Amino acid sequence: MDYKKEFAEVLYEQLQEHLDLTKVESMIERPKFENQGDLSFPCFELAKIYKKSPQEIAKELVQILKLPKQFHHSEAVSGYVNVFLNKSVVSANVLNEILSKGENYGDLNIGDKKVITIDFSSPNIAKPFSMGHLRSTVIGNSLALIAEKCGYQAIRINHLGDWGTQFGKLIVAYKLWGNEQKVKETPIKELLKLYVKFHEEAEQNEQLNDQARQWFKLLEDGNEEGLKLWSWFREESLKEFNKIYQLLSIHFDSNHGEAFYNDKMDQVVQLLDEKNLLVESDGAMIIEVGEDLPPCLIKKNDGSTLYATRDLAAAIYRQNTYQFEKSLYVVGNEQSLHFKQFITVLKKMGFKWHRGMKHVPFGMMLKDGKKMSTRKGKVVLLEEVLKDAITLAKENIVEKNPTLAEKDDVARQVGTGAVIFHDLKNYRLNDIEFSLEDMLRFEGETGPYVQYTHARASSILKKGNYKADHEAILLDDEEAWQVITKLMAFPDVIHRAFDEYDPSQIAKYVLQLSKAFNKYYGSVRILDDLQQKQARLSLVHSVQLVLKEGLRLLGIQAPKEM
Ligand code: ARG
Repeated sequence: MDYKKEFAEVLYEQLQEHLDLTKVESMIERPKFENQGDLSFPCFELAKIYKKSPQEIAKELVQILKLPKQFHHSEAVSGYVNVFLNKSVVSANVLNEILSKGENYGDLNIGDKKVITIDFSSPNIAKPFSMGHLRSTVIGNSLALIAEKCGYQAIRINHLGDWGTQFGKLIVAYKLWGNEQKVKETPIKELLKLYVKFHEEAEQNEQLNDQARQWFKLLEDGNEEGLKLWSWFREESLKEFNKIYQLLSIHFDSNHGEAFYNDKMDQVVQLLDEKNLLVESDGAMIIEVGEDLPPCLIKKNDGSTLYATRDLAAAIYRQNTYQFEKSLYVVGNEQSLHFKQFITVLKKMGFKWHRGMKHVPFGMMLKDGKKMSTRKGKVVLLEEVLKDAITLAKENIVEKNPTLAEKDDVARQVGTGAVIFHDLKNYRLNDIEFSLEDMLRFEGETGPYVQYTHARASSILKKGNYKADHEAILLDDEEAWQVITKLMAFPDVIHRAFDEYDPSQIAKYVLQLSKAFNKYYGSVRILDDLQQKQARLSLVHSVQLVLKEGLRLLGIQAPKEM
C-alpha cells in the first residue's frame, strides 16, 4: 500500500510523454497544510514543457486524472495537484494489513538475507562498563534489530577490549598490591582500584611503566604466568558484564575480543608488507593514509601490536567468516580518526569490501553538563544505575497498581526500558544529559509513557472482549484518521531509521503514535457505541501491535499491564 507510488502511476498515465515514473514519484510532496490533502504534485517544472502556467496545468490534470477508489478526490491549488485519500477505504486497508501481518507489519526486504556485522558494546576487560559502552550497547542492539526487520542477517559482535598495554600495568599492580580474595568478591571494583593505584604510583616511579611494558611483551610472547592472570581477569570481568547484558536482554553471536586476533596478526603484517604499504618510522611500523590524516600505527618499536592492527585483522577475519555486505562499528565519536585510518588501510590493501564498512559514532552521556568519567576511580557503575532505575520503577508500580502480578519482572522491563528509551530518543550524535528522574516519568517523552500507552491499549482490548477478525473495517471519523496516518507511516520510518542508522526515528515515532492514540482515547468512547465497537477495537489492536513492535526494535519490552 504505497499511496505515493499509486498517485505517481495515476499522474504518469497523463505525463508519460515527457516524464518517467520515478521522476514523477520523486516530485510528489506532502502538502504544506493538512487541510490541503494528503499528497501534492507541483506542476512548476511542467510549465516549460507544456508552455502553460502551472496553475492551468494543475487544473487540467485534475479534470483528466483517473483516480482509483483509495483516492477521494483531487484539487488544483496554486500550481499543485493535491489529492485526498479516501479515509474509509484507506483505513480499512491499513488496519487489515496490520491485523493480518501482526508483528510482521513493516517488515522490509532491503537486505535480501545478506549479512551485516554489528560491532557494539565492546567494553574493556578489568575496567568498569562505562556510560559510553552502555550507549554503544543500546544503539548497536537496536540497529541489529532494525537491520533484521529490514531483511538482513545481523551478526552481533562484542569486540571485547581484552588485550593491550593496560594488562601489563594490571599484572604489575596485582603482583605488587593485589589480593586474590578481594578480586574474587568484587572483581571490577578491585581491578579498577589496582589500575588507578598503578597510575598514581607510576607518576613517582617511572620504572613501573617499564615493568608494565615488559609484562605486556611477555604476554604477547605467551608467558604462562601472565596469561593465567590475564584469563582470570577476563573471566571475572565477563561475569560482571553478563549481568548487565542479562538485565537488558541482549545477546551476542560472537565474543571474540582483541586477544582472539593475536595469532592472526603476523599474517596481516606480512600482507601489508607484501603490498609494500609498511613504512618504518623511528623503529615503528606505520602506514601512510593520505595527507589529511596522521599515519596508522601498525607495530611499536618493541614489536608489540596495536589497537588498529587488531582491528585490521578482525575486519579481514569477519569478511572471510561472514562475507558481510555491511559492517558497522558502533563506537563513540572520539574514535572517528581511528576508523578513518584503518578503513583507509583496507582500501589501500585493495579490499573492495571496505565500502560496506561504516563507523556509527555517537555523542557523550553527561551528568550536570560534564562527561561521566570512569577515570580516577570516580565511577558510575552501570549495573547500579540499572538497578536504581528498576527500584524506582518498582516504587511507581507499587503506588499506581498495587495489585499487579509479577511486579518484579514488570519493574525490570520498565526500569531498563526507561534507560534505553532515554538514550535512543536522542539523535545519536547529540550529547545526552543523564537524569534518572526524567527517564522514569510516566508522562512526557519517556519509555514508560510509551509502555503505559501500550498497556492501556491492551487493557481496552481485554475489557472489550476483543476477538481479532480481519474483515473490512469502516472508520471514517477524523479522530481515527489521525491515528491511522501514523500507523501507515511505520514501514517508512523503519526504512529511514535503517538508512541513517538512527534508532531515534523509531523512538520519536512511537512517541507520536502514543500521543495520537491517547488523544483518540480521550475523545472517543471506544466501548460504548455498539455499532462502532468492533471497528474501534481493531484500531486499538493495531496501535497495540505497532507500539509493541516499535518498542521491540528499540530493545524494549512492552508489558501488558503496569
Ligand atoms: N574497547 C574499545 C573501547 O572501549 C571499543 C572497541 C570498538 N570496536 C572496535 N572494533 N574497535 O574504546
